[in-house]
Amino acid sequence: MAYNLLKGKRGIITGALDANSIAWKIAQKAHQEGATFVLTNAPIAMRMGEINKLAEETGSTIIPADATSIEDLTNLYTQAQEVLGGKIDFVLHSIGMSVNIRKNIPYDELNYDYFAKGIDVSAMSFHKMLAVAKKLDAINEGGSVVGLTYMAAQRTYPFYTDMADIKAMLESIARSFGYYYGLDKKVRVNTVSQSPTKTTAGTGVKGFGDLYSFAEAISPLGNADAESCADYCITLFSDLTRMVTMQNLFHDGGYSSTGVSVEVMQKLDAANNI
Ligand SMILES: NC(=O)c1ccc[n+]([C@@H]2O[C@H](COP(=O)([O-])OP(=O)(O)OC[C@H]3O[C@@H](n4cnc5c(N)ncnc54)[C@H](O)[C@@H]3O)[C@@H](O)[C@H]2O)c1
Repeated sequence: MAYNLLKGKRGIITGALDANSIAWKIAQKAHQEGATFVLTNAPIAMRMGEINKLAEETGSTIIPADATSIEDLTNLYTQAQEVLGGKIDFVLHSIGMSVNIRKNIPYDELNYDYFAKGIDVSAMSFHKMLAVAKKLDAINEGGSVVGLTYMAAQRTYPFYTDMADIKAMLESIARSFGYYYGLDKKVRVNTVSQSPTKTTAGTGVKGFGDLYSFAEAISPLGNADAESCADYCITLFSDLTRMVTMQNLFHDGGYSSTGVSVEVMQKLDAANNI
């Protein structure tokens, strides 16, 4: 059911790689809620061509941009305002990549060039997207910027390796930039900490299947899927959350507040033959 929550709003949505991407679902929901937006992704990701289907479905223009490039981001905001006919109301940062994870390098043996690349792509890009927007004064007062994160920023998950530190930085940027952007332009900046979700980036983490099942067994509501994450992000883009900023918001079916569940205890009992 749609509520017209984003009627008349203009947005920029990063990170829709394929139909499993969280950003893909967010774009579909934003469209249903009356928003107009541009889609963007790294030029290399465009080669897969999947994003064209989403652009067609949502009547959106695609503007390629490597989120680590100030030049690309400047072009993105400039063109987006031209295409959409005015300043931007919401921005989704849905970008994550770790070469150390891709190459299965353990945390205590990290390659620092890969680490630096991961920071640039997955966290510093958030700062760059905010800084370029602010410099160009591209976001309307009351606008909303959301980045996606994971709870490894607060607790240790061995296989999440350098992305844990990178997500901690991403969440810190939301707080720090949220202060400055809020003071100057009343623009809100938040991160949404999402349950494990079966996407290209998610399933690339070693042991993802077990992690997914564990979180499912711990969370009283079960894992939050990409579609419900999209619903939550729509509320954050809407005026209903106009006083929410500088927050890391858990969207995880209660996982982050649960110590252990009866289900997990029973499984351990069964495994130990107690
Ligand atoms: N899947 C999960 O379990 C999960 C859980 C919590 C948070 N997240 C976060 O959600 C976000 C989206 O990931 P997803 O799970 O939808 O996976 P995904 O693989 O579909 O999306 C990641 C996106 O990042 C884009 N990207 C990579 N490098 C880029 C660059 N230089 N410039 C621009 N874009 C670039 C990719 O092309 C891709 O579209 C990420 O920040 C991820 O860490 C995912």
